[in-house]
Amino acid sequence: MLKFLIFIGAFVLVHSGSSPHGESYLKSLSPEQLSKIPREVMEDALLDAVGLITKYGFPVEVHEVKTDDEYILTMHRIPEGKTNKGGVRPPVFLQHGVLMSSDDWIINGPEKALAYLLAEAGFDVWMGNARGNTYSRKHATLNPDKNSKFWKFSWHEIALHDLPAMIDYVLAQTGRQKLHYVGHSQGTTTFFVMGSEKRAYNNKIASMHALSPVAYMGHLKSPLVRLMAPFASSLELITSLIGINEFLPSSEFMALAANALCGEGSILVPVCTNVLFLLAGYNPDQLNTTMLPVYMAHTPAGASSRQLVHYGQEHMSKKFRQFDHGLNNFINYGSLTPPKYEPKHITAPVFLHYSDNDWLADGGDVDQLFNELGYAIGKFRVPMAEWNHLDYTWGIDAKTLIYDRVINLIWAFEL
Ligand SMILES: *[C@@H]1O[C@H](CO)[C@@H](O)[C@H](O)[C@H]1NC(C)=O
Repeated sequence: MLKFLIFIGAFVLVHSGSSPHGESYLKSLSPEQLSKIPREVMEDALLDAVGLITKYGFPVEVHEVKTDDEYILTMHRIPEGKTNKGGVRPPVFLQHGVLMSSDDWIINGPEKALAYLLAEAGFDVWMGNARGNTYSRKHATLNPDKNSKFWKFSWHEIALHDLPAMIDYVLAQTGRQKLHYVGHSQGTTTFFVMGSEKRAYNNKIASMHALSPVAYMGHLKSPLVRLMAPFASSLELITSLIGINEFLPSSEFMALAANALCGEGSILVPVCTNVLFLLAGYNPDQLNTTMLPVYMAHTPAGASSRQLVHYGQEHMSKKFRQFDHGLNNFINYGSLTPPKYEPKHITAPVFLHYSDNDWLADGGDVDQLFNELGYAIGKFRVPMAEWNHLDYTWGIDAKTLIYDRVINLIWAFEL
């Protein structure tokens, strides 16, 4: 019963109408809590991607890309490094995870965050933003605050429309035939869907690096996804009944979920008030707690409820397949069950980076994907037992454990 209440609570969604950035999180803190935040940290909590990149002295460009179904996406580009400038700079495209944004590739700052490391290593860095997040909450005709139709998408649509539009845009801008792709979490799911469904795009990828690959989810540990999963089919009904399609859990729900999942009075409570941690887990050794206000102010960065529902369905079915519309599958697909994605058709060279304590990408599920991929070259287990899902972007040791290797692999496929 408690589970059901939490589930209902999850979808009593509120539209704050304001940006999920900075202010709203900081507003929730008491003056005493605020006074403890170092000035530098407070500044970063309030800056968006352009503000952050500019503050740290790197060049930044903003590009708008329109998809074939008229969503308007924002991309951020760091064309060159601060010290390593000019020259032939192969493009690398970075795609964020669910409820995240391009912020997460820069949030840890120079010499730590992947986007800066790539720029200094000699690459032209492009960061995508999926439809529905803070930077891509825009459409030629649909208003995200007024038209529920705007939110009728899952990561399937991100894979079929957003990624191809952004990849083609980068290739056109740089005059290149191919780019390197680095994805985190949903940024890997969408890549695998694209490679399976729009196969011509495999030829546009020089190499692909999956940080926490998420395709099969039969074994996942995430309490939030597991909690929602059994309701994943009726969930659609409820969200459509209340007419709200953006995933924005109410504060009441978050308090309930935090207590249920983290324990009442837990020292983790600040962390448990962020839906992203409930979804993806928490690793005290790799989380720089001084930076917590910055992470909290930039995430969750927005998504459609359907993205989460689709993941819940993956867990229940243990299959990597299209959105389950229940009785409407026949109308949508002409079959009782949704069509499966086929990893064997993904012929771009792929490297998988995974870990033992990842709540969303379990080792067993990663193995299955690795065995089915058309051209999987390497599978790397992070040599740290506690390494978690969010450590790939925020982890203190992400550079030494992940990014250095990724950058070497990219060079190996460039030269
Ligand atoms: C944690 O973040 C603070 C503020 O950005 C920084 O000064 C400190 O070096 C970081 N600690 C580690 C271990 O990275």
